[in-house]
Formats: sequence, C-alpha cells, structure tokens
Amino acid sequence: MELKVDELFREAMSHLASGVAVITARRPDGSPCGIAATSLVSYSPHPPSLLVCVWHESRCHDALAGCERFGVHLLRSDELELAHRFADRAARDKFAGLDWHWDGDVPELDGSLAYLRCRRAENFVRYDHTILIGDLQSGRLEAGDPLVYSRRRMDWLMQPMMP
Ligand SMILES: Cc1cc2nc3c(=O)[nH]c(=O)nc-3n(C[C@H](O)[C@H](O)[C@H](O)COP(=O)(O)O)c2cc1C
Repeated sequence: MELKVDELFREAMSHLASGVAVITARRPDGSPCGIAATSLVSYSPHPPSLLVCVWHESRCHDALAGCERFGVHLLRSDELELAHRFADRAARDKFAGLDWHWDGDVPELDGSLAYLRCRRAENFVRYDHTILIGDLQSGRLEAGDPLVYSRRRMDWLMQPMMP
C-alpha cells in the first residue's frame, strides 16, 4: 500500500509498541507538573541513562527542559487512568487527589511499575520537541506488568509465554 509520507509515518508508528510513562518535574513556582509519554527510550548503561522527547507546546515543557532532575514513572497495566490523567491537556491540576510526594525536588507518584529519578544531563532541541537525556540517580521497582501502547490503544494485556 502506497501512502503519503505523513500518513505512512502515522500508520507505521501506530504499530510500534511501547511502554507508557509519566514524566514529572517541579516548576519554578514550586508546583508539580507531569506528562504522559511513550517516547521514552533506554539510552545507555554507561552511565545508566534514558531519553525522552517533550513537545514544545506542553505546559510542562519549560519545567522539564530547565529542571535539574525529573522523575520517570513506568506505568502498570492497571494504571490506565493515570495515563489519561497526565495526557489531559486541559487538566488544571493533574496531581489533585493522587497519592504522591516530593522526592527532593522531584514529584514521585505512589505506585507505578518503576520510579526512576534522573539528573537532566543534556537537552537537544530539534523540530517541535526537546530531547532530554537523564542519568539515573535512584529509584524503585515494583511487581507487575507494563501498560503497553500500540495501535492507538493502551489496554493491551501481556500474555504468558508458551512453555
Ligand atoms: C499515549 C500518549 C503518548 C504521549 N507521548 C508523549 C511524549 O512522548 N512526549 C510528549 O511531549 N507528549 C506526549 N504525549 C502528550 C502529552 O501527554 C500531553 O500533551 C500532555 O498533557 C502535555 O502536557 P500539559 O498538559 O502539561 O500541556 C502523549 C500522549 C499520549 C496519549
């Protein structure tokens, strides 16, 4: 099937499966902010580092692009509501009613499959996103399965492998 390049990009990328993360930071005024993100990539084990792409129009962009540290929360399969909450561009306070606390200057959500506190090491600005590289400082890992995004849906369930 031949498609125009924009459509080819959208359709082909919709088949790419990824985990879903909530990326958090502190704004200069001291309030917490966060976005849902699937552009998270394991970058290098030397040092342990990851990258995430942040859209320039996000209300959280400047906080993430300028912070010293940010938080990465890998969501569990039963945390779909959290993903929708942090993807909501109209939400006034995404943290209202949630269980969370400050880990130093990083908003840490309770729960999630993994919490990774990262030191922002580098920004790369290109097109309409900023790429952040974060060096892993500390965190925690919990039991569970990941929330998986593919084909514009987030309700895929992991199946046990055949023996
Ligand atoms: C499945 C999914 C994946 C997303 N991935 C990203 C991403 O990787 N980077 C990004 O900047 N926004 C991403 N977004 C959009 C942001 O979550 C959304 O625009 C966010 O609400 C913007 O932050 P704001 O509400 O503070 O403006 C994604 C949204 C969804 C639903």
